[in-house]
Amino acid sequence: MKVLITRKIPQSIVKLFEDSQLEIHMWEHEDEPMPHELLLKESRQADAIFTNVSDRIDRELIQHAERLKVISTMAVGFNNIDIAEATRRGIPVGHTPDVLTEAVADLTFSLLLSSARRVVEGMNYIKAGQWKSWGPMLLTGQKVQGATLGIIGMGRIGEGVARRALGFDMNLLYFNRNRKVHAEQRLGAKYKDLDSLLKQSDFIVMLAPSTPETYKMIGAREFSLMKSNAVFINTSRGANVDEQALYSALKDGKIWAAGLDVFEKEPISPDHPLLQLDNVIALPHIGSANVETRMKMAEIAAVHILDGLLGKRLTHCVNPEVNV
Ligand code: GLV
Ligand code: GLV
Repeated sequence: MKVLITRKIPQSIVKLFEDSQLEIHMWEHEDEPMPHELLLKESRQADAIFTNVSDRIDRELIQHAERLKVISTMAVGFNNIDIAEATRRGIPVGHTPDVLTEAVADLTFSLLLSSARRVVEGMNYIKAGQWKSWGPMLLTGQKVQGATLGIIGMGRIGEGVARRALGFDMNLLYFNRNRKVHAEQRLGAKYKDLDSLLKQSDFIVMLAPSTPETYKMIGAREFSLMKSNAVFINTSRGANVDEQALYSALKDGKIWAAGLDVFEKEPISPDHPLLQLDNVIALPHIGSANVETRMKMAEIAAVHILDGLLGKRLTHCVNPEVNV
């Protein structure tokens, strides 16, 4: 059986497939996605696909992949995969929640702190030879301790961010499709409707998954409700935010700063207007990227493939109805 691996992954993970006598077709580039046409072509012969956030596993691909028995993504998010079509074909889709929760919460909090305290601007300031002396108000930022944090999307990662925020005595608000009793009782997070959260928070963290309902859910109207000292962080998906509106809000001083790990179009172009602003920190979608977490994600994704090919239940299945 053939496994299509759409990106070069560590050899120790490849070995799991080799040990199972599987035929491996691996795209040998570490930092470049497989061209979509080639992905379509290779998928036609594949019994399993090991994928990631940068591939579009769309209806056309799934329809033509007649031998396909399992799709496994090395990610928690699966907005790049046509789940409805996979389900219609009876193909289970595996993903990697839980294992990356703390890593993404760490990066979210890093962006929060470094946006608040202008960490990247400070480094650029030194490198540009601008540092002449200590200054009373030089590169002054926003206070984090005791500030109000609004979390949009209180799932596993939202709770991880909330736990970190408690160490900074932050006041926690959250908005979610449904109430989260655990977050309220154990972390003291208060449920707010979206508008109230936007109006009351000093820091706003976007962690909702990308769905038709969350498409550009933060736009011009939402930015206009935020405080002028608000720091907006997005470590979920770029599609959740209207980037044009974010740019205007930052440029016109309607909000104070933004920390972004995800973009509408990835990779974001270096000459994108957002990247010309001093009050933006941008990262190349590295939320889960610590060595240990990425190795575990790859291993879980590999085990999903092996289980899927054996017709076994996947540990973390996006569409469990096909996989009982
Ligand atoms: C990364 O963005 C993921 O969904 O794991
Ligand atoms: C600053 O370095 C201070 O000592 O206050």
